Amino acid sequence: MDGVVKRHGSFTALHGLDLSIAPGEFFALLGPSGSGKTTTLRILAGLEEVDEGRVLLDEVDVTHKEPGERDVAMVFQSYALYPHMTVGENIAFPLKMVGTPAAEIAAGVRDAAARVDIGHLLARRPGQLSGGQQQRCALARAIVRKPRLFLLDEPLSNLDAKLRIETRAELRKLQRSLGVTTVYVTHDQEEAMTVADRMAVFMEGRIVQIGTPKEIFLAPASVTVAAFIGTPPMNLLAAHLEDGQVVVQGASLPVSGYPGERRAVTLGVRPGDLQITEQGIAARVEFIEDLGDNVIVNLEVQGQRVKARRDRVPALAEGQVVHLAFDPAAAHLFDAGSGARLPASEDNGRRQPIATEIGKQERDL
Ligand SMILES: Nc1ncnc2c1ncn2[C@@H]1O[C@H](COP(=O)(O)OP(=O)(O)O)[C@@H](O)[C@H]1O
Ligand SMILES: [Mg+2]
Repeated sequence: MDGVVKRHGSFTALHGLDLSIAPGEFFALLGPSGSGKTTTLRILAGLEEVDEGRVLLDEVDVTHKEPGERDVAMVFQSYALYPHMTVGENIAFPLKMVGTPAAEIAAGVRDAAARVDIGHLLARRPGQLSGGQQQRCALARAIVRKPRLFLLDEPLSNLDAKLRIETRAELRKLQRSLGVTTVYVTHDQEEAMTVADRMAVFMEGRIVQIGTPKEIFLAPASVTVAAFIGTPPMNLLAAHLEDGQVVVQGASLPVSGYPGERRAVTLGVRPGDLQITEQGIAARVEFIEDLGDNVIVNLEVQGQRVKARRDRVPALAEGQVVHLAFDPAAAHLFDAGSGARLPASEDNGRRQPIATEIGKQERDL
């Protein structure tokens, strides 16, 4: 996508998107509701006209091509199955439309259904399936044509939490086995982080960051991205940078990579990087959430909620005053005004984006 602008009357939904997705990539569009993800997907599918810019598919300008001429398949949030047709007929439909011979259709349906484990449900109607099975039927219908581009709009949002986690892993496997370039829309950062090779973070009709999940996690480009990524997301506190130290509520803590600078900043520290100790930023324990495999300690600093993640329940009482510290390399600094990430003056191995391949390997582990 090259400088794509989309307007609805006086409202601009997309402010000039530039986006390049590589062949075979599993690419996520991540952002809050209303940020322009679905609009972007519909433009790729040819369901929505652009006001400015171009859409190129394999170097060919398809900006004004009809959906049928693009060889793309889309799975909608609502599944959009035909209720009066059987599962088999639903999956066969895209092949029938292009006049595929019957024997080829039968083989294609069997293969697509087997890939998503619904081979035994072909004679049923959508109304006789569970939500998860309907979702698989919609996937099978999309992959049966072996499209060049596979578009998924929040495909898991109607499933319960457990099924969502199982299905996203299967979807990832399915995409790998098909090798089809996939664009996947979600507002769930954990989902994007676990399935995508790379992702674009959307905010208010703009892409604010593009990278591997690991790159974006390790070096969010702004306070807005930082506040959106991670479970729970990064803690953000008003602070001052002075001679390689951040000063928060009178406590000075060293940060690596910013020698000699003096300015107002927003300090970001991930919950897992926050240490509860004897010295540092004074904080009051509000309450402790035991999630089983980890524990979230909720604290108050500057009238703000701050979260620290622990492996086990710490010996802390509600209301107790403690102190917070962190490794100098774990601090993220953002401009207090614009919210943009401050460039570190040296690579401290933490703040700089790491190589794509390393990010991918780590995620696959
Ligand atoms: N047909 C339309 N008319 C007017 N506004 C629209 C239309 N379609 C989308 N929008 C607006 O464009 C913005 C982006 O929408 P959308 O792409 O659906 O967001 P997302 O999928 O990220 O939730 C939203 O503010 C939405 O209200
Ligand atoms: Mg949407």
